[in-house]
Amino acid sequence: MNNLQSTTQSTETETGLPGQFLNDVITGLTSSPKYLESKYFYDSIGDGLFQQIMHCPEYYPTPCELEILSKQTDVIIDLFMNSNEGFDLIELGAGDALKSSYLLQSMVAKNIDFTYYPIDISANVISNLEKKLPLHIPGLPIHGLNGEYFEMLQKSNTLSNRKKVVLFLGSNIGNMFPAEAEKFCESLRENLSSGDLLLIGFDLKKDPQTILDAYNDKQGFTRDFNLNLLNRINRELGGNFNPEHFKHYPTYDPGTGSCKSYLVSTRQQVVNISAGDSSIEFKQNECIHMEISQKYDLEEIEVLAHKTGFKPLEYFYDSKNWFVDAVWVRE
Ligand code: TRP
Repeated sequence: MNNLQSTTQSTETETGLPGQFLNDVITGLTSSPKYLESKYFYDSIGDGLFQQIMHCPEYYPTPCELEILSKQTDVIIDLFMNSNEGFDLIELGAGDALKSSYLLQSMVAKNIDFTYYPIDISANVISNLEKKLPLHIPGLPIHGLNGEYFEMLQKSNTLSNRKKVVLFLGSNIGNMFPAEAEKFCESLRENLSSGDLLLIGFDLKKDPQTILDAYNDKQGFTRDFNLNLLNRINRELGGNFNPEHFKHYPTYDPGTGSCKSYLVSTRQQVVNISAGDSSIEFKQNECIHMEISQKYDLEEIEVLAHKTGFKPLEYFYDSKNWFVDAVWVRE
């Protein structure tokens, strides 16, 4: 969830894939360098911590994007209507749909002919959206799709052959390494038809200190959010991590635009994970890579669009120019 989308990420219980969490943890911690997948941050405690991060004064991405979607709603919707035909509005990683609800509300009020297809890996998220969203937005045509993005996009192609407008909000694309982001956009292109639209959020390069502070809030919620993943491994996989023996270390490189979070082992230690019958050795100062949040500039966004078969149509910025929602058309 970016922010909002993140709360929807997969957990072994939610996806019904027992063992996947364990496998991914063991794979990450036996790799060199060590890493943990950031999708596992979002168990119920992680969801709560992420809500607190989003309310920190330092964490700007969510308010910036909310500002864009709440203040420029009409212009964005006009763009969706560029071909004057009904369409499917497909949201990848819908979460609680707080951000998209500005668009949905206004589209219903304008009597626009569309169906909202939220896609999420969490069955829980989808059933909640189907239950609750029509109560807030009476008359909303909604059809939830529970599963992986691309599988569900393919499924949506079998349900309707209308034009598609895909929403990929938040820092979702930023949570991929740039090479992965490129592959992701290519796959999106393959699953869309010429003339379909993509609205995609990018956090922009800005004063490096502003970025670093957003991933290192003073109240320590981001630190706790990172350490919670060690606690989650303890709780769910019988680990014996002592979170006090790891230090949260966020970095931002203004050259590459990569903002990364690490947990650094403050001592030589061995951690056991009983569910995997594994012992993981840490050297002093050895780190676990936890998260990437890639920041872009406009040039890089344009290159990404053109390389992956999209044409940029319009850019919507917040008033500080810190975040952009780009609208691309699939060529
Ligand atoms: N990945 C999201 C982002 O880039 C959410 C996030 C904020 C996050 N702080 C984090 C994820 C720290 C993991 C660790 O904004």
